Amino acid sequence: MQIYRNISLKEHNTFGIDVKTDVLLLIQTPEDAAELAGSSYTARGKYLITGKGSNLLYLSDYRGTVIKSCIDGIIAEKQGDDSVVVRAGSGTDWDTLVGWCVSRGYGGLENLSAIPGTAGAAPVQNIGAYGTEVKDVIEKVRAVSVTDGRIKEFSAGDCRFAYRDSVFKNEEKGKWLIAEVWFRLSTRPLFSFGYSGLKEEAERLGGVTLANVRQAVINIRGRKLPDPANTGNAGSFFKNPVVANEVAEMLRSRYPGVILYADPSGGFKVPAGWLIEQCGWKGRRTGDAGVWEKQALVLVNYGKATGREIFELSEMIRKSVYEKFGIALEREVEIVE
Ligand code: EPU
Repeated sequence: MQIYRNISLKEHNTFGIDVKTDVLLLIQTPEDAAELAGSSYTARGKYLITGKGSNLLYLSDYRGTVIKSCIDGIIAEKQGDDSVVVRAGSGTDWDTLVGWCVSRGYGGLENLSAIPGTAGAAPVQNIGAYGTEVKDVIEKVRAVSVTDGRIKEFSAGDCRFAYRDSVFKNEEKGKWLIAEVWFRLSTRPLFSFGYSGLKEEAERLGGVTLANVRQAVINIRGRKLPDPANTGNAGSFFKNPVVANEVAEMLRSRYPGVILYADPSGGFKVPAGWLIEQCGWKGRRTGDAGVWEKQALVLVNYGKATGREIFELSEMIRKSVYEKFGIALEREVEIVE
């Protein structure tokens, strides 16, 4: 394990917020993770387990230990004729994993191309995009307890996946360092084209293949979402809220153009980006904190914004959406103090 003290986290969060942490631990092996159990890092001071920091916002210097998995490696095990289990170390870059699978003809992750983050963080918030959620292909999650060092395997059921949610954000929060994630993929891909325009984009690229679907997703993302390598951001800042039928009816009658998605709960999912745009925030900027001009659900750091400035902007947005629509936005990004 590598230990750094009093070090900047700027390179360890995709918002590019320049705060320091007292200690940064880079975990290289599951044995390193087991060593955390009962250590001063986890038994006494406060600590935070992260991946690439692509879904969090630091408000201030972190007075504790940031623990980051760098457990690397991808292996595949064939399972019968059309199925393969791919095992990825939690520190594996997410999109490297997707590209690795697509280039070998393993289908299931292609719609999740180009999402910033690591393989280990994917199940924590059940990443999703273009009609796919990672829960659809997760076989199991192998994790090391930071309290007693034991290894536990969480089946997909144990993970209790929901929209951008899992057991690792709730009752098991902070208790496990995910070491490895197992994905069940298919060598006879079943494409998922629920997202409007995805199939057409793949066809424009020459036809429906894994590689073209991956490229189509990359193209669509590139048109809407800022690349954290150039502009700090953490993807969608809020979740898309689910509203009751009456609210959906009210929105439809007042805004005939509104796009609503039926939710399994019986209500309707409203695009938060649309709500924020209707409140006039799209493309607005205060100092270096802003609302992305092509996607109002994404808050950005144009350079030197502090976490607090971005947070304050997000609270103003939340307030105005509530005042205009009576809908309370819930953050997707985790706030860290
Ligand atoms: N919209 C607007 N104005 C905006 C943004 C969006 O009117 O400024 C409308 C769009 O026109 C569209 C609808 O809102 O009708 C949905 O927009 P989009 O397809 O861009 O997706 P989203 O609901 O804003 C979700 C995920 C994204 C994921 C995309 C694509 C959440 C919170 N976000 O965004 O995930 O990439 O769908 O599937 O569910 C993330 O979680 O960080 C993330 C980027």
